[in-house]
Amino acid sequence: MDLITDAKKRAAKEALKFIKDGMLVGLGSGSTASFFITYLGESKLKVKGIPTSKASEKLAKFYGIPLLDPEKVSTLDVDVDGADEVDPQKRLIKGGGGALLREKITAKMSTQMIVIVDEKKCVKKLGAFPLPVEVARFGFAATKKEIENLGFNATLRLNKKKNHPFLTDQRNFILDLKWNSPQKITPENADLFLKSIPGVIETGFFFNLATKILVGKENGKVEIL
Ligand code: A5P
Repeated sequence: MDLITDAKKRAAKEALKFIKDGMLVGLGSGSTASFFITYLGESKLKVKGIPTSKASEKLAKFYGIPLLDPEKVSTLDVDVDGADEVDPQKRLIKGGGGALLREKITAKMSTQMIVIVDEKKCVKKLGAFPLPVEVARFGFAATKKEIENLGFNATLRLNKKKNHPFLTDQRNFILDLKWNSPQKITPENADLFLKSIPGVIETGFFFNLATKILVGKENGKVEIL
């Protein structure tokens, strides 16, 4: 097994220590969160979950983890999810797997959000990873133009075969954004500007949500931030 996969697994296993019987748990998406769901499913813990994507729902069902109806639940005890970037202020970029909308709603309704990452995800400054933004298909070209007018290069995400736009679980598109020149604007302001565009449904910026970051290291340790 490669070192990064090993580090992701270690962070995912560490997260289990924070789960207790009876908890309502947000089940994140992506490879690291999938390791967590697997460990949770294999454990004897009695919890109920809300999956943040169809893929995580399938995995949770495979392990027989009881699931809650997301339309009826307003609070969860803890959400455990991966991230694409984590900065020293515990701000995140998420959405590399396209599940950012459900992930953010789930994180927000949770008392705690435990983020599980390998050490390569920790950065001094957010932005090397292109920012995923979920946009409505209706008026997509106009929304893309508005985003580009803010100073971003916006790339429409394609499916695995590269023959069709990638569709989120809500059947929206994803634009992956990079600043087209160095920017002085803060991530918080960039987020506000993006969200002021009507076709923007949600951004991959996660602020003031992560309560704990578990960083799996290549040296075999897990650091808790
Ligand atoms: C899914 O949309 C993402 O937010 C994931 O949490 C993120 O991309 C991390 O994924 P990995 O654990 O696969 O790196």
